[in-house]
Amino acid sequence: MAERKLKLSPLDPVWSRVCDEAEAAIKDDPLLGGLIHSSLLHHATMEQALAYRFSFKLASPEMGEQILREIADQAYRDDPDLGAAARADLMAVFDRDPACHRYLQPILFFKGYQAVQAYRIGHWLWTHGRRDLAYFVQMRVSEVFGVDIHPAAKVGRGIMIDHAHSIVIGETAVVGDNVSMLHSVTLGGTGKEDGDRHPKIGDGVLIGAGAKVLGNISIGHCSRIAAGSVVLQDVPPCKTVAGVPARVVGEAGCSNPSLTMDQVIGD
Ligand SMILES: CC(C)(COP(=O)(O)OP(=O)(O)OC[C@H]1O[C@@H](n2cnc3c(N)ncnc32)[C@H](O)[C@@H]1OP(=O)(O)O)[C@@H](O)C(=O)NCCC(=O)NCCS
Repeated sequence: MAERKLKLSPLDPVWSRVCDEAEAAIKDDPLLGGLIHSSLLHHATMEQALAYRFSFKLASPEMGEQILREIADQAYRDDPDLGAAARADLMAVFDRDPACHRYLQPILFFKGYQAVQAYRIGHWLWTHGRRDLAYFVQMRVSEVFGVDIHPAAKVGRGIMIDHAHSIVIGETAVVGDNVSMLHSVTLGGTGKEDGDRHPKIGDGVLIGAGAKVLGNISIGHCSRIAAGSVVLQDVPPCKTVAGVPARVVGEAGCSNPSLTMDQVIGD
């Protein structure tokens, strides 16, 4: 008697959802078929789709798609954290960007998401001693997406960069997990310091459009920086700061960090 083989469904709910959305999008508008097949449905995994997107968007006459694809495939194979971070970023954009209604939007259309994934490959190159290739990726991401993140900067997971024009993140900056920033944010030096000279951004911080955070200062977790502010001093956790120079104008985040999650959500 022939043995019946059970097909296992892939244990990747994020990628499965992207593929479901991709099929629905083609049904809605068959003219998208080429783009969606080549970018998403043609690939077995999210990592392969991201590697394709990375190489397609960043290829230039100086460095073709095939070399960039090899680099990205190697990075995703070598470091499973890259794929995990890509999924966390996707969920962050979906959760926090009111204009994001489907998981496929960031992968296909949002330059902030694509720039962060490309930075992650540049950072992998940097940490593997391939610094000139990392600089090349930084340059192309800046040229193509208008997002300039130094490959040595350390960026956590669950990052949302909305709109993403003119983002600058300097060499010694550290960005925690679940940070959101809008366009034209600078995490820069003051121009007066060498060495470790860039901001350290805590988990869960929101940085409004056009805000400049300058110097080796710390922004405490869950704080918010109002649009257009210039922040020159440490910000404690769970505060809202605004203005030039920025001053504390209110509270932010969870008002009582000792509450359990059940107490915060309520019954
Ligand atoms: C800071 C922010 C998160 C609001 O926080 P909030 O705690 O709700 O603050 P409030 O609106 O109650 O304002 C508190 C004080 O800060 C001031 N303030 C708020 N945003 C400010 C800004 N960007 N610049 C200067 N002052 C600002 C308010 O006027 C108010 O001052 P007052 O107490 O003297 O009246 C919000 O103003 C912000 O900047 N969000 C970023 C949005 C963004 O980047 N949008 C771009 C979309 S493309």
